Amino acid sequence: MDRRSDVALDVDFARGHFPQLANGWAFMENAGGSYVPRSVVDRTARYMSELQVQPNYGFAASVEATARLAAGKAVVASFLNADASELVIGPSTTMNIYVLAQALRSSLEPGDEIIVTNQDHEANSGAWRRLAEFGIAIREWRADPATGELSLARLDPLLSSRTRLIAMPHCSNIVGTINDVAAVALMARRHGALLAVDGVSYAPHRLPDVKALDVDFYYFSLYKTFGPHVGAMYIRKALFSRLTPQNHIFIKTPPATLNPGGQPHEFSAALVGIADYIEALDDHHFALPAAHLRARFDRIFTLFAGHEDRIAGRLLDGLAARPDIRVIGNPRADGSRAPTLSFAVAGQTAGAVAGHFFAHRVALGHGDFYALRLITALGLADQGGVVRVSLAHYNDDEDVDRFLAALAALPRP
Ligand SMILES: Cc1ncc(COP(=O)(O)O)c(C=O)c1O
Repeated sequence: MDRRSDVALDVDFARGHFPQLANGWAFMENAGGSYVPRSVVDRTARYMSELQVQPNYGFAASVEATARLAAGKAVVASFLNADASELVIGPSTTMNIYVLAQALRSSLEPGDEIIVTNQDHEANSGAWRRLAEFGIAIREWRADPATGELSLARLDPLLSSRTRLIAMPHCSNIVGTINDVAAVALMARRHGALLAVDGVSYAPHRLPDVKALDVDFYYFSLYKTFGPHVGAMYIRKALFSRLTPQNHIFIKTPPATLNPGGQPHEFSAALVGIADYIEALDDHHFALPAAHLRARFDRIFTLFAGHEDRIAGRLLDGLAARPDIRVIGNPRADGSRAPTLSFAVAGQTAGAVAGHFFAHRVALGHGDFYALRLITALGLADQGGVVRVSLAHYNDDEDVDRFLAALAALPRP
């Protein structure tokens, strides 16, 4: 695989694919939902204008619809290094996890234990915690209240012969630090426990590999990864027999058993637009063709990471220069964090600080981002949570300059 370090992301070329970027704002709320390349918009429109029929029949439009849905799933399979037969494309990650938790429930017994974190988005926490109603004991793996980070040392004492599942984020939507999922997978195996990982905040920045990580369940949201509003869930094939079907009683074949309501058709077809975009980037940056789509994903995401680390480093340096600002998580973009940066300003609510940035046409987020347990543990609930500036690969130095200029104008205590 070509990993030449002399190749850097051509950000202007990337930006040219995103029509939304022309609105005059520095868009830094990518962790809430990324922009989509024109190819995704086009694929959605083409499915709706050319087909819009039920798949799985023998007439021509239906045959084509079936093929386009399968092609969309194949793109996600390649992205995760999974097989399409191990994937559910559902309406959202929250819904996918809810269905999974219900499906796993009947294989659990009262007294069995599930480990959840207080670092997760509630999607990967609440659905598991609810199983307490059925006698399942919930153990909480707590983040460091100063940094928001998880440590393996705090996980170890929670594991026991009753542990059946660990649910954790690959990367928190607030802290940004990448958690050592492979190490947790080893710990889970030693105790015979399953591992369910939320990759929503990781997947836009680094290429997941469910096989290398050795996870049992892995989910992410395509609408935060340059795609339409759907969620994908990987399920290790050997586990299907342990999961009670959640779809109609007569639907017996997985993964459809874990996909009540089926996949959103036009958006599943539109997933191919993500591959179109990656292929355009790959053709632009590399002279030699890649062996397959996964290899293209791999080398383009390597470019994304290099660029994101550089511009996130500039933001972090700017934030570190202000003694009145507390940055959550790793204060350096040293390869171990996503460019999802959260901070709190002494004496100012998150909403007031965000309003200041809006006045400078910087779009960012503020609040708890549905990770209320973490915000509470960090002691920031009374301040309205954090301000979150979250980058994607198409953010450029001008965006960072705009942010830093706004930061310089932010009143000091
Ligand atoms: C880390 C994380 N996990 C899960 C979710 C929920 O994803 P969805 O909106 O697809 O249900 C989000 C959404 O913000 C998130 O940031």
